[in-house]
Amino acid sequence: MADDRRMGPKIAMVAAVAENRTIGDDGEIPWHYPADLAHFKQTTTGHPVIMGRRTYEGIADQLGGPLPERTNIVLSRSSMTLPAGAVHASGVQQAVDMAAEDAAQRGVDVVYVAGGESIYSDFLSRADQLVLTEVHRGVGGDTKFPAFDESNWAETRRDDRGEFSFVTYHRRTDWYDQTGLTVSLAFDSAVEWLGVTVQQHRWTGFFRPGVISQIDESRRSSATRESQMMDGNNQQAYDRGTSLFSPDGRIYQVEYAREAVSRGAPSLGIRTGDGVIFAAMSRASSSLMEPESIEKLHKLDDHLGTASSGHVADARQLIDFAREQSQVSRLRYGEPVGVEDLTKSVTDKIQENTQLGGTRPFGAALLIGGIEEGQPRLFGADPSGTPNEWRATVIGGGREEINAVLEDEWEEGLDLGTGLSLAVRALQNHEEEISADSLSLSTVTVDDGYRDLPKNEVADAVAEADGHAGSDDEADDAE
Ligand SMILES: NC(=O)c1ccc[n+]([C@@H]2O[C@H](COP(=O)([O-])OP(=O)(O)OC[C@H]3O[C@@H](n4cnc5c(N)ncnc54)[C@H](OP(=O)(O)O)[C@@H]3O)[C@@H](O)[C@H]2O)c1
Repeated sequence: MADDRRMGPKIAMVAAVAENRTIGDDGEIPWHYPADLAHFKQTTTGHPVIMGRRTYEGIADQLGGPLPERTNIVLSRSSMTLPAGAVHASGVQQAVDMAAEDAAQRGVDVVYVAGGESIYSDFLSRADQLVLTEVHRGVGGDTKFPAFDESNWAETRRDDRGEFSFVTYHRRTDWYDQTGLTVSLAFDSAVEWLGVTVQQHRWTGFFRPGVISQIDESRRSSATRESQMMDGNNQQAYDRGTSLFSPDGRIYQVEYAREAVSRGAPSLGIRTGDGVIFAAMSRASSSLMEPESIEKLHKLDDHLGTASSGHVADARQLIDFAREQSQVSRLRYGEPVGVEDLTKSVTDKIQENTQLGGTRPFGAALLIGGIEEGQPRLFGADPSGTPNEWRATVIGGGREEINAVLEDEWEEGLDLGTGLSLAVRALQNHEEEISADSLSLSTVTVDDGYRDLPKNEVADAVAEADGHAGSDDEADDAE
């Protein structure tokens, strides 16, 4: 199939698809999964969303208007009068141009395509991502998702929810062919090094002439590869370099590192009136593994802690660096390092790896929190090296569901006990059955500094959250 992708924002097709590719029946989606609707809302809010006239009409019927907090770009061959929040496009290219302009205004780099059948077909060759809810059964219906060649797509995220799974595919590029890439990059670097050496030794007789001509040939093909990379026709090649922007201003390796983080088990941080709370879920790869050996919460200093998600080995490097910086501050200035200063040192180190050739970005994100001048503060550091301060946030998988609870329930000045219960309930929104064994909790408070909660206190927090959820259910039943 032709690859029609162009410069501009990424195009992601978002759809819920049955095993037999059904997506709709008689103008409706033939199943009802509230978690899928929440996932769609979380995924698309704040972005332009392109859809066909019939899909728009179905949405407008149900919601009484366009999808809120999104620009609804509605495709129809006839002119249409639409309410605020929706705009008409009469063709695919016009829709893409409008979406690109809207995305630029909103400061986002993804445009979503939300169906139906002919719209998905029209956009498939342009799409960079497929954000699918795969329904694990065949369903009768009159509207289908187009068949696509799975060998062109790499699965980058899977979140199984019983009857369905949230699955993200990225269009397959050279990056995914890891081995070939590593060999090719290593070869290019070696050839480059040898080239310099050859220049020096060409006349000394150090290399035999046959070897010199082979190296020269290799250097020429290496230069050709590089120029192909630069001319924009071979967009996939931008996957290869951390230090290369693609023509549409993206650094693919950083985006892939973010994907690595989003495939990890979630860790969250909550700022309360009394201190900062960290909570982390762990997934043992075997029942024989000691759960305590999976460490995602760490003390950085008496007044500082961190939670990680993503590649454990990468996170450990960053944690060691943060600990060192904390000690450097004590030795050099005789005082504990501030939470913001420490976060910025860590993010500077992360950022360096997005600009230097021959390295790759850290495949881990950290939450760094603690007490600064008597006040709790919480920061996040992602693989791009951007530091942000948070009231509460989550890194790793299940971000939509966990954030939904945090956004609803976080309040200024919340006490530590309520914060712990909120942390567990937020994680339960992603994974219903949470045991004390798969959960770690720690706190940083003015009085006690950093403290890992022992298992009996973790079990109490889970029981407290279960009790809270139970009382909510009773209240719902009473309504
Ligand atoms: N499961 C899911 O994720 C999902 C997602 C979306 C929709 N759906 C389901 O899919 C069904 C609706 O999809 P559908 O395929 O019947 O309709 P649709 O794709 O939503 O809308 C089709 C209409 O879009 C316009 N259109 C299509 N291609 C165009 C183009 N190239 N240029 C300009 N206008 C274009 C035409 O409107 P005019 O006739 O006005 O010219 C066409 O009749 C419903 O059952 C819905 O529930 C399911």
